[in-house]
Amino acid sequence: MATQVKKKKVFIETLGCQMNVADTERMLGLLDEIDYEQTQKREEADLSILNTCSIREHAVDKMRSYVGSWDKTRKPGSLVALAGCVPQQEGEGMAKDVRVADIIIGTHNLHRLPDLVLEAEKKHEVNKLNSVKGADQNIGVYAARPQVAEIWEELPEDIPETPIFRKTKYYAWVNVIYGCNYRCTYCIVPKTRGDQRSRPVAEIKKEIEGLAQEGYKEVILLGQNVDGYGLDIESNLATLLREVHEVEGIERIKFLTSHPCDMTFELIETVAELPKVSKYFHVPIQAGNDYILKRMARRYTVERYMELVNYIRKLMPDASITGDIIVGFPGETHEQFMDSVKVVQEVKYDACNTAIYSKRPFTPAATWEDDISADEKQERIRFLNAIITETAEKQAQRYIGKVEQVLIEGQSQRNPRRLAGRIFNNKTVNIECPPELHDKYIGTLADVKITQANAWALRGELLI
Ligand code: 5AD
Ligand code: SF4
Repeated sequence: MATQVKKKKVFIETLGCQMNVADTERMLGLLDEIDYEQTQKREEADLSILNTCSIREHAVDKMRSYVGSWDKTRKPGSLVALAGCVPQQEGEGMAKDVRVADIIIGTHNLHRLPDLVLEAEKKHEVNKLNSVKGADQNIGVYAARPQVAEIWEELPEDIPETPIFRKTKYYAWVNVIYGCNYRCTYCIVPKTRGDQRSRPVAEIKKEIEGLAQEGYKEVILLGQNVDGYGLDIESNLATLLREVHEVEGIERIKFLTSHPCDMTFELIETVAELPKVSKYFHVPIQAGNDYILKRMARRYTVERYMELVNYIRKLMPDASITGDIIVGFPGETHEQFMDSVKVVQEVKYDACNTAIYSKRPFTPAATWEDDISADEKQERIRFLNAIITETAEKQAQRYIGKVEQVLIEGQSQRNPRRLAGRIFNNKTVNIECPPELHDKYIGTLADVKITQANAWALRGELLI
């Protein structure tokens, strides 16, 4: 007779980028194998994991404040784990420092999580038995909390395939390349994610075929530098896109994040040619001035970037282009900053993320004089954001009156009377729809007439 297995509960808080979101899905898949299921309520969790991000300043402080407050309100006897980029950045040394964490794991050895959790469970049991009589044995205040910390310096040669527990049902993030071979002078990623490692085409295709069978309609190929895909295994992103394009049932393919120095005309032509590939490019320029780009070690000029943008627009006039820009990089003069403003106006981004430069440990720029005042940086980012919003809003008007095919992802979070989804070129759209019809549409590709547009999202009506 089959016995019902009682699952333990895991709560995960994910900070940072899509790579972390994908890692969280892997952690949930791995933990499922040792009988953990996800809960949204931290107070009932047997294991709470903070998947950390270290791209900006105060990452360590933020991590401490999270786990500090968790420690006070955790379920008695439960475990707390720190995962992701901060442990990878800080190394095993941080274990002594962050005593409230029972498990510490880096990004390179994520597949080891179940073993570490089982080890920590065992140590805690033993510790409870050995703890001083009279101490509160439940809440974890016994003398020294036993800790399990394992952080690998290097990514393994063959990154083991791990089970993945996906929260999304209709689109899926698929890691195609790990790490990054570049050393942009501001960036912590090479430290936290290691050198570039492309997954073999056949392995990726197999994963995506499985997703199609499960009913997924869209895949987003993910990499810190996705255009670098294949350079270490004699392949390239254009080839991968062609292979993935053959998978029946997958109706949409996207990829991010692009690096202008590895983006080729061949790739742009391939995107233009393949009907299932979204005409959507996330290509961060980071700065609009060649001298600053050189100091950032970005390996391209503004002229080259504009060549790529113009070629995209020539082949796909309706393409959606988004980017990232850093404001206040060490030494950036006002004139140099205004070159970033100029680029934004010229490219006409559909959206562009901006960030004030943030000094990261172990990066070359961290040793350079940070000579721009905080007020000046704030003023620059405010000015740039205003221009971005204005151009993005103008760009969005081109969709008004058009009928777009929308992958309906679910109910809008803000308004339960609306559905939310994305058009082929990635823009979010909210759709007025009576709640009793939601089930009929969620997970389908539906025709939607766009009626309103602003910088962030579109509004539309279902064509029934
Ligand atoms: N400071 C500010 N922004 C940064 N980014 C990466 N590192 C830093 C840093 N040290 C931004 C870049 C990148 C995005 C993910 O985060 O614009 O494209
Ligand atoms: Fe960081 Fe540069 Fe690599 Fe992007 S390309 S992950 S910014 S080092």
